Amino acid sequence: MDARELVRSVKSVAAVRTVGSARGLRSVRSAWRRWRADSVELPPPGAGRARVPGEAVGAEPQPGGGVVRFARSSLRVRVAAGGAVFCGWDGAAPEPSYALAGACPEVDERAVLEPDTDGGWRVVSERVLVVVSRLGAVEVRTPGGVMLRRDLPPRWWEPVPAALRGPACPAGPLSDGSPADAPGRGPGAAGSRWVQRSEVTADARFFGLGGRAAGPRLRTGSYRLWNTDPGGSFEPGDDPLYVTMPVQLVVADAGTHLMFHDNSWDGRVTLWEGEEGAGSGHDRPGRCELRMDGGPVRYWVMAGTPARVLHAWAALTGAPALPPAWALGHHHARWGFGSEREVRRVVTGYRERGLPLSALHLDIDHYRGHRVFTVDRERFPDLPGLAAELREQGVRLVSIVDPAVKAEPGLAEYDSGVAAGAFVRDGRGREVRGEVWPGESVFPDFTDPKVRAWWGGLYAERLAQGFSGVWHDMNEPVSFAAFGDPTLPRSARHVLEGRGGDHREAHNVYGLAMARAGYEGLCELRTRERPFLFSRSGWAGMQRYGGTWSGDVATGWPGLRASLALVLGLGLCGVPYSGPDIGGFTGSPSPELYLRWFQLGSYLPLFRTHAAIGAGRREPWEFGAQTLDHATAALRERVRLLPYFMTLAHLARRTGAPYVRPVWWRSPEDRALRDCEDAFLLGDSLLVAPVLEQGADRRAVRLPRGRWYDTATGLAHEGPGQVLLDAPLSRIPVLARAGSVVPVAGADGRVELEVWAPAPGRTGGGVLITDAGDGWEQPEVVRFTTRSRGGVVTVEQEGAEEVAYPVRVRGSAAGSAAR
Ligand code: NOJ
Repeated sequence: MDARELVRSVKSVAAVRTVGSARGLRSVRSAWRRWRADSVELPPPGAGRARVPGEAVGAEPQPGGGVVRFARSSLRVRVAAGGAVFCGWDGAAPEPSYALAGACPEVDERAVLEPDTDGGWRVVSERVLVVVSRLGAVEVRTPGGVMLRRDLPPRWWEPVPAALRGPACPAGPLSDGSPADAPGRGPGAAGSRWVQRSEVTADARFFGLGGRAAGPRLRTGSYRLWNTDPGGSFEPGDDPLYVTMPVQLVVADAGTHLMFHDNSWDGRVTLWEGEEGAGSGHDRPGRCELRMDGGPVRYWVMAGTPARVLHAWAALTGAPALPPAWALGHHHARWGFGSEREVRRVVTGYRERGLPLSALHLDIDHYRGHRVFTVDRERFPDLPGLAAELREQGVRLVSIVDPAVKAEPGLAEYDSGVAAGAFVRDGRGREVRGEVWPGESVFPDFTDPKVRAWWGGLYAERLAQGFSGVWHDMNEPVSFAAFGDPTLPRSARHVLEGRGGDHREAHNVYGLAMARAGYEGLCELRTRERPFLFSRSGWAGMQRYGGTWSGDVATGWPGLRASLALVLGLGLCGVPYSGPDIGGFTGSPSPELYLRWFQLGSYLPLFRTHAAIGAGRREPWEFGAQTLDHATAALRERVRLLPYFMTLAHLARRTGAPYVRPVWWRSPEDRALRDCEDAFLLGDSLLVAPVLEQGADRRAVRLPRGRWYDTATGLAHEGPGQVLLDAPLSRIPVLARAGSVVPVAGADGRVELEVWAPAPGRTGGGVLITDAGDGWEQPEVVRFTTRSRGGVVTVEQEGAEEVAYPVRVRGSAAGSAAR
């Protein structure tokens, strides 16, 4: 157990202590069982025999690239139609994959494999050039030949022979049957550990790897790839968290690229940021090392502008699910509302103060004894009635859904799961039991299609209770453990779509597969409405089914900062819909901290207040009159911006671009912007600069190039550079890009266009995407162009004689040049 695991164990013991010592004791038993199962069923981690590919001995061109043969391995390089490059060692193919949206993309027939100098090979394609050296280093370069990254040949450690290692590991199905796939080498040996080292340019910055509290820029350090509940709450130093992904987004002068290792096993990424030798010519390149406990060496690289890269990523792993319009409003949650009466009291509190509320979330305390898909009828005697009543007031109910089912014969969900063969088993065919909220529990194997279908059907009960959406929790999956990893034994068996395997491979995709089960179930049960689902855990591709949230972020200023880091980082991994527990999960924020969190949250896709049982209240009126006033202003501004948020949701679905983007999104070449972590772009038009420091009433804001208007004063500031802006408690600085068109809701609720004057002689524009309800209808897309000539601002609507919406022009030329 390393130091981090020890801290985690102490934290998880502390967490269980809050919910009773009987559970504490059971979590000792659960941890013990897990440890025992793994020590009996898994091979001891041995040194193994090392292998590297050796020298290139030949190559075969294939459509879109080809296979380069090495003395002890092979490398397949294949360029897909959208420009994404696939590299697979040891015969690894792109499929099967949990990340890919559907069938593997078509190949780009124009990409060809040709001999390179020094016995190497290269694949030339429209977007990138891939150069494979004689010893198996792979360089990805721009079409002009500038290096983006260099991946050194992998090194594998073959596991000890099967006869010596007890129950067999399942074979990976990734072989393409090539001679290099000899038994015991590579794909047959799914349990082979491997390492790959890479280099990027000295100026490059790393982002991504899923949701990292220490981000968004990932500094020199080590990041684990293992979805984990940190237990209790987390702070920026805690890693890993609930959503890890082997997705790196690298931004450098030479270009932006995304690298995705399609491998769900446990691993560790170590990053070293590079350093430039300030003209001395002695640059230290950025470096990365990926160590995996098993699984194939296969990866995708896509290069271009950030927008192109995210587009290619969404094309590969799937378009983000479109939330229903109501999910873009304000949500209020709490663990421990406790009763229908309390729910009514809170909703009435919002209504009486004129505070807009879209959704209210019920946590595990509304279950009967914490059993998923049940209701405590004493405290919630008529949930469907409550749901209907709230719906009349424009408030939807959202339900938490945990994967663990109480192991209790007679409980309908347990019995039907047993009948369906739904629960994860050990190597001897016995149910794997763990400890979660309801007590001793079993875990559906979501990697089995028939289990997903069974589980999806269970959502009928949630719909019958009147819920409009679901909130997946504890799906890393968590089993409380007094020591070691708080999850299932690594030796637990999984169906893995029929291939068979164990938890080492299934763990990281468990939440993703649960999201799929829930999403598909809801689509089938309620065909006419888009599901609303967000999930604490997930993996590459989770955006197909919904969004996520920060998880249990600790209340405090560091937690506020981590909230933004998580949303930005997840967006760059293709998950655009997320947000934090506003106010933090634990304890009681000061009015100032609550307000600053609320103001930030009001510009994030998932705008939700939430807190732990026993934590202080999070309703906006609980922090005094001044905070209530300012929170009300933030809520009203959110409502005003809803047409813009809906447009961003549609754009995310169509283009893969997250709503919340780093400030370098359109200017990745601006190095100062690459290092800016305390502000973000909301779509193309707005730049939001939250206050993340206690006591601050002014803040420096770094601007991308072009003219930006302070939306509070209308004053113009010229970027690139930095400006100092007022940030009184009543608001956070928000700037609008000159020339942009922001669709907003007018006083009567109808869409209006807020047009920010283009700089003289310049043009600008914007888009409005409206959908007709919460179903699947095709939305209407309207495009606008703005111009400024001789001090007059004009707006045109594409394909129309006149602009069909009221227009309000804003922005004055007076202001300052940024420094
Ligand atoms: C952990 C979740 O992260 C949190 O949001 C929730 O309130 C608790 N589980 C209880 O369900």
